[in-house]
Amino acid sequence: MKANVIPMRAQNEAAQTCDLAARLRRRIVGQQEAIDAIVPYVELYEAGLAPEGRPVGVFLLLGPTGTGKTRTVEALAESLHGSEKNVLRIDCGEFQLEHEVAKLIGAPPGYLGHRETQPMISQHKLNATSSDRSSLSIVLFDEIEKAAPSLGRLLLGVLDKAWLKLGDNTTVNFERSLIFMTSNLGAREMMAELTDRYGFASAHPGDSSETKLHRIGLGAVRKRFSPEFVNRIDRTLTYSPLSREAFDAILDLQLEALQRHISIRLGPSSFAIKLTSAARRFLLEEGTSAEYGARELKRVIHRHLIQPMARLVLDKTAAPGSTVWIDRSSFAALLTFHSKSDGNLAA
Ligand SMILES: Nc1ncnc2c1ncn2[C@@H]1O[C@H](COP(=O)(O)OP(=O)(O)O)[C@@H](O)[C@H]1O
Ligand SMILES: [Mg+2]
Repeated sequence: MKANVIPMRAQNEAAQTCDLAARLRRRIVGQQEAIDAIVPYVELYEAGLAPEGRPVGVFLLLGPTGTGKTRTVEALAESLHGSEKNVLRIDCGEFQLEHEVAKLIGAPPGYLGHRETQPMISQHKLNATSSDRSSLSIVLFDEIEKAAPSLGRLLLGVLDKAWLKLGDNTTVNFERSLIFMTSNLGAREMMAELTDRYGFASAHPGDSSETKLHRIGLGAVRKRFSPEFVNRIDRTLTYSPLSREAFDAILDLQLEALQRHISIRLGPSSFAIKLTSAARRFLLEEGTSAEYGARELKRVIHRHLIQPMARLVLDKTAAPGSTVWIDRSSFAALLTFHSKSDGNLAA
């Protein structure tokens, strides 16, 4: 009888991966293909069936700027470990020169400055990104096209054998890791393709254009990276440009997060925020574009909503428990704030 009892930890992990897809869908708008491709690799690991001697999965995320590539990796960390910070993140833009790549693995002992060059990647740092919820580590090489060529060579060993030799001759094991690389290689050609077909304002790719975008991305990757490198990638996923409806849903996600932030930070003095459709349109017009996707939206919300709202809080003009209605000013490119009970509070 005992053999039928499934250990508690295994039960928890099974339940967790079951709603992993649902949790990712709540955080990432659209990009269903990417979610569907990633989840099975997590399941493979949690089931104990991931192959030995290589990372659990190696993904290359391609597509236009601001469509959710980096966000996907953060959302996976959030869903798996409870925080988007549980990622060993390498911003490849910081490793554009060959000598900067050396900082990743640290200098050999005896080298001048050895003590100061602690490697940026280490087994300890990798393990620290896992959690008591899951022992799977998430590694992100963000915007790999920006890195010096030697980073590609260094990555080969990681992708192929799941290990990296550091400057001090110790090794880092990536067998319990999912490796993500993001890149906008080919993104410009993808945008040109969409502009030709649909015009800039309506980038709604149909099925055939999604395949075409994927081919453009793969072509650009093959031009930039060696065949060995490309062969070691398990899945290349091409992110689609976001539609108007997707931008709208992303705005909802960010406003919900802002409301949670207000409630947690202000506690009993917190208030509800509600936006008119004109205010929403304003934020979307300022914060989203075909060229940068939703990348600017957070900044625009910060500038036009959060910063003016700080004034309301400091002036104690937003009554605790009230609803603050946010509208677009008819005179300037600004939002206005009205409390439900007190009339106009600020412009
Ligand atoms: N598909 C998406 N779902 C949810 N949020 C998104 C999506 N795409 C972009 N965003 C928002 O825009 C920001 C920038 O997206 P990001 O993932 O960094 O873009 P990139 O594709 O260039 O890596 C994210 O932090 C997130 O707030
Ligand atoms: Mg990114």
